[in-house]
Parts: sequence; structure tokens; C-alpha cells
Amino acid sequence: WAIAAPYVAAINRLKAERGAVVLAHNYMTPDIYHGIADVVGDSLQLAIEASRVEAGVIVQCGVHFMAETSKILNPAKTVLMPDMEAGCSLAESITAEGIAQMRARYPGAKVVSYVNTTAEVKAASDICCTSSNAAQIVAAMPGDTVIMTPDKWLAQNVAKLVPQKRIVWWDGACIVHERFTPQDLRDFRDWHPGLQIIAHPECPPDVVAEADFAGSTAHIIDFVGRTRPEKAMLVTECSMAANIADAHPEVEFLGPCNMCPYMKKITLEKVLWSLHSMTGQVEVDPAIAAPARLAVERMIDLSR
Ligand code: 13P
Ligand code: SF4
Repeated sequence: WAIAAPYVAAINRLKAERGAVVLAHNYMTPDIYHGIADVVGDSLQLAIEASRVEAGVIVQCGVHFMAETSKILNPAKTVLMPDMEAGCSLAESITAEGIAQMRARYPGAKVVSYVNTTAEVKAASDICCTSSNAAQIVAAMPGDTVIMTPDKWLAQNVAKLVPQKRIVWWDGACIVHERFTPQDLRDFRDWHPGLQIIAHPECPPDVVAEADFAGSTAHIIDFVGRTRPEKAMLVTECSMAANIADAHPEVEFLGPCNMCPYMKKITLEKVLWSLHSMTGQVEVDPAIAAPARLAVERMIDLSR
């Protein structure tokens, strides 16, 4: 904090000068999460909050698809991305051409795309979903077959929750969550009796099957707050436990975690530079933004 404090103070001053709000994902480092964020949340919460922002400038502390989603939902605002290289292995795994291939293979099936996609992919999809609402969205789709892109593990986890649908998927994965193995979870459960294991649904289904609870980052935070376990293992990105540990001194967080190299590209220094220079402005071609907005708004409407 001694190193972070001058940056935090400078950013908070500049935020006021520029009329900016900082939207931060739950995977941001604690200095960003606790020091400069005005709103924190999972992908769904950040999208909803972005659509409501009245300030002129949004600083997106997260990855590029999140900044694009904010711009799509609130196009009159300046959306700043402190590092344009903050991508996502899922968003990089599929293009609009991939969506067209899936539609050709499964004619008539609705396409549900994870928000972890580019604006072009959202525009080519019928509706979006996040890990908070994926089962709800898929269950609401007409027809027997539903195409889920691009996360094959999320799709397979949702398939267990929505057995009435035949779900077909794209071959994408999150490089952070696919690295966990069921053996990691079994080992830690053996070593720490009473351990609550809480996984993100981007983990493979055999990992989720070993967990006591699976949910989006917001659902994970909610679960820890409601159940207050003595010992918890969060099978997700490392900053999650770091961010909520102060609020839950009664919970011992243990076990392995994985860093997202994309999320970790966002630093206080880059946020300060972006706000100072107003560089890193995210633009979305209006011809793509319009159908992409429809796909995201349909999701938000169905999630209410
Ligand atoms: P949620 O915060 O929506 O659970 O998503 C996790 C994630 O990987 C975002 O990139
Ligand atoms: Fe993408 Fe996974 Fe990183 Fe989220 S944690 S941004 S899904 S690579």
C-alpha cells in the first residue's frame, strides 16, 4: 500500500477532474479493487452498471471485451481501456465466421454467446450470457438444440443443469480455469477436513463435480458471505480471495489459484496514464454495435 498510495491518490483526483468512474472486475488486484474502483462486480453486474453510468468517462479495469460491452451499452461515453492488450483466451477463440459455421451445422438452433467475446461475435449471436445467468438463458431458448460459444466447459456445466436441452459447443476454454484438476481439489479436501471448495463454472466439469458450490465471481462472493466457512478454497483467479479476505477475517482461504495474465495487465500506473492522457479509448463500429447491443440487452432483460 505504501507504493500504491500516491497512485491511488492521483487517480482519485484525476477521476474527479475528468468526471470518470472506474468499473472494476472482481479479478483486479486489491490496490485497484479497494483503492480506485467505484463499482466492482462480475461480468453481468459490470455490464448492467455500465449501461447506467451518467459520468462522461468510464475507465474499464478488466479485459477488452468488458470495455467493448460498456461502449456498446453506453455509446455516448468515453470508455478507456488502460491496456489494449488485455485480451481473453475465450474471446480470442472464436470469430463471427465460427458462429456462421455453427449455424450451418445446427440449422435453426439459437446461438448463446458468452460475454467473453468480441463485439463482432456478439453481433452474430442471438443472445449473450454470463456465468451468472447461463443456465437461465439457455433454458429460455426455443427449440431442442442450443449452440453455446465459445466456452466448452461452461457449456458442459450448463448441460448438466438444463438436461431438457441438447447443448452443442465451440472448442474454446479459459486458460486460467482449465488448468485446475479434480486431483488438486481432492488433495486439498484430504489435507483440510471441513474445507469448502468453491469453483467457477469455466472449470472443466470433472473439477466442478468435486466442488461444493460453483458460480460466477459474484455468486462466489455471495456464497462465502452467506455460509462463512472456516476454510475455503476458491478454484478461480488469485485476486478473488485477496479481494474478499479483509471482509471475511473468520475465513481461512487456502489452496492453489491461477493468475489471469490478461487481467493482470491492468495496473495503477496504466490507469493513471490512461486517465491523464485520455488514451486507450475503445470504439465499436456502430454497424456492429447495434446488433451486439441487442444480444446483450436481450440477456439483461431475461436476467431480471
Ligand atoms: P464472471 O466474473 O462473470 O464470473 O466471469 C469470470 C471471468 O473470467 C471474466 O473474465
Ligand atoms: Fe478470459 Fe479466463 Fe482471463 Fe476471464 S480469467 S479474462 S475468461 S482468460
